[in-house]
Amino acid sequence: MAAGMRRNAALLVALLIVAVALAPAASGFTVCGVDRTAVDACRSYCAKGSKETSPSDACCAKVKPADWECLCSFKNSLPNDVNASRIMDLQYKCKCDNPPATCGAN
Ligand SMILES: *[C@@H]1O[C@H](CO)[C@@H](O)[C@H](O)[C@H]1NC(C)=O
Repeated sequence: MAAGMRRNAALLVALLIVAVALAPAASGFTVCGVDRTAVDACRSYCAKGSKETSPSDACCAKVKPADWECLCSFKNSLPNDVNASRIMDLQYKCKCDNPPATCGAN
């Protein structure tokens, strides 16, 4: 079920972006291990139509501590201006340490 797992990974990173994007602009606000600055750091790579070949070091540093299971609760709030394929890549390109969440899929 590789395709399903990859899709889950894409959803998880997307909801990470959403969770942080929806957060108040207050500095220090953190959702599921990532703070709002992760959105700014990763936005250009994950946007639809992006020409970037890899996420920035700054982006990767921001998403590494993400608590993926925590982020499952946001999975129904994906923004439509984010490229899920690129978000999926983010989790692998950044070699995120935390275990990927299943969001109840298995
Ligand atoms: C999404 O990202 C993939 C992989 O980089 C790319 O092939 C595709 O064209 C992108 N889609 C959009 C709408 O930007």
